[in-house]
Amino acid sequence: MCGIVGYTGNKQAYPIVIKGLQRLEYRGYDSAGIALLGSSLKIYKKKGKVSALEKDVIGKDLEGNTGIGHTRWATHGEPNDANAHPHQSQSGRLAMIHNGIIENYASIKQELLLKDYHFTSDTDTEVLLNFIEDVQYNNECSLEEAIRIALKRVVGAYCILLISKDEPETIYAARKGSPLVIGVGDGEYFLASDASPIIEYTKEVIYVNDFEMAIVRPGELILKNLGNEKQTPFITKLDMELAAIEKGGFEHFMLKEIYDQPDTVFDCQRGRLLPETGQIIMSGIDNNMDMLINAPRIIIVACGTSWHAGLIAEYWIEELCRIPVEVEYASEFRYRNPVINKGDVIIAISQSGETADTLVALENVKKQGAFIFGIVNVVGSSIARMSHAGAYTHAGPEIGVASTKAFTAQLTVLMMMALKIGYAKKTIAYERYYSLMVELVAVPNKIRQIIKNVAGIQRIAKKYKDANDFLFLGRGYNFPIALEGALKLKEVSYIHAEGYPAAEMKHGPIALVDETLPVVFVATRDTYYQKIVSNVQEIKARKGKIIAVVAEGDDVITHIANDVIAIPDADELIGPLLNVIPLQLLSYYVGIEKGLDVDKPRNLAKSVTVE
Ligand code: G6P
Repeated sequence: MCGIVGYTGNKQAYPIVIKGLQRLEYRGYDSAGIALLGSSLKIYKKKGKVSALEKDVIGKDLEGNTGIGHTRWATHGEPNDANAHPHQSQSGRLAMIHNGIIENYASIKQELLLKDYHFTSDTDTEVLLNFIEDVQYNNECSLEEAIRIALKRVVGAYCILLISKDEPETIYAARKGSPLVIGVGDGEYFLASDASPIIEYTKEVIYVNDFEMAIVRPGELILKNLGNEKQTPFITKLDMELAAIEKGGFEHFMLKEIYDQPDTVFDCQRGRLLPETGQIIMSGIDNNMDMLINAPRIIIVACGTSWHAGLIAEYWIEELCRIPVEVEYASEFRYRNPVINKGDVIIAISQSGETADTLVALENVKKQGAFIFGIVNVVGSSIARMSHAGAYTHAGPEIGVASTKAFTAQLTVLMMMALKIGYAKKTIAYERYYSLMVELVAVPNKIRQIIKNVAGIQRIAKKYKDANDFLFLGRGYNFPIALEGALKLKEVSYIHAEGYPAAEMKHGPIALVDETLPVVFVATRDTYYQKIVSNVQEIKARKGKIIAVVAEGDDVITHIANDVIAIPDADELIGPLLNVIPLQLLSYYVGIEKGLDVDKPRNLAKSVTVE
């Protein structure tokens, strides 16, 4: 949610900053802007995507070895040029970009208005910047000290990059609740919300912690806390390749990431899932097995697609480990007063590891003594670092805003986790444990087979692209897949869609059914197959258009449905990992048929770092 990037060194900053913004655009695309500092301070900003900014700066003065850039997901103030970052202080001396929300900005603004400050935008960022400037005048202190004093007053979340005309080579950076990574180059520094803008220049990075500030200038990096105590920067080596953040010949990141799934599911299993020895090796689980097998309850906390992965895990863990599971929306959980008992385990699921609601929900339960197990994709992210133990999903950077490969990687980790705990707890027999391991190993190839039949899915997308609504139905393990199918379609095609348990649709949604409504059934062979056949008939009787995801060889629903997507057969517990793939592809192609920007759907952002 908002991407920030900065550079200081001996190169020209503009090309580095603009490329960084393109890489971070998935975090928000309401507006983009840059500030360049060299012989003078230049600020350019524009409503819309980074490409609009690039057009706008053609022929303008882009000189400067220091630069900061911002891509915005609007919170305070509508998306327009004035509200775009960077903002400039009233004196014109300072420029700043910000990711986060200053919750007490209104009271600070009131104070500043009384002192005759004027504001050119509706943003909380401009308020904070002028507040910093005001603090510096009043205290006659250094800019560094003014930033510290001002930030101590701030309630909310921020990652800021600030530059001053007085120090043309310096970038001041600080964070609380919003991510910041610093790439260490040869006498030069790269600052960004995540490592994707940095990776092509250096693999040495520093993850800045909450309440820390960094002062960087060519050849010098000083890290301090807000108490002005020096901190030792801890340099980490990035395990990421440039190719992983490029489209690799695909038209969109979303399609590339769907196609990546045979590899990402395999990467997630690599070195962990070993049917040849009957072992699943996951150190985060091995080191905490006693606590996990004795947990009286597991609470899963997540948002969005990660929450859907949690719902499937609820079915799996209860089935295989006989531990009661609750799945919570982080945004609700953080404001409740949840009962946390001794021994309860919290599983946090997050692709980005930065989702503000999930992060705060975890901080709250951590204070109550709960054990937190993080299932996170982005290495070194805030949730990964605040968890007591965890397992990375190893899906590589996910750039399409609608989550695809991160979801199947989360499911892979969760299934391995359930199998491992269930076997250690003796709630599943070795034969079942082993057969599910083998089934899991087969998933990448089965995904490959589904993808080969993409033409049929494209045809279905074309046929139904003009529908106003869609209904997605599934039972058991496939109910959360119905929810995920509906979410994907909403995200990338802007068609209203609802996911429902297939039987529950009789209690309401069936009223929506007529000959214009496409109803997607996730109806592969499982315990509920006969039941779902009845549900299909119920929709057919009301003239709904049935699109069914079935197992190869199905000869019942295949004859009732209007359109069928047949996929390889699998154990019903493993089914969700396969059944979601055609729904991802369907959403992608409906979005494409409608001519939409599937990688950057309107109003969404990849990493929601505000509550
Ligand atoms: C946003 C993204 C979703 C994602 C959700 C949770 O809404 O667009 O794709 O599922 O946040 O994000 P997380 O990074 O915590 O999994």
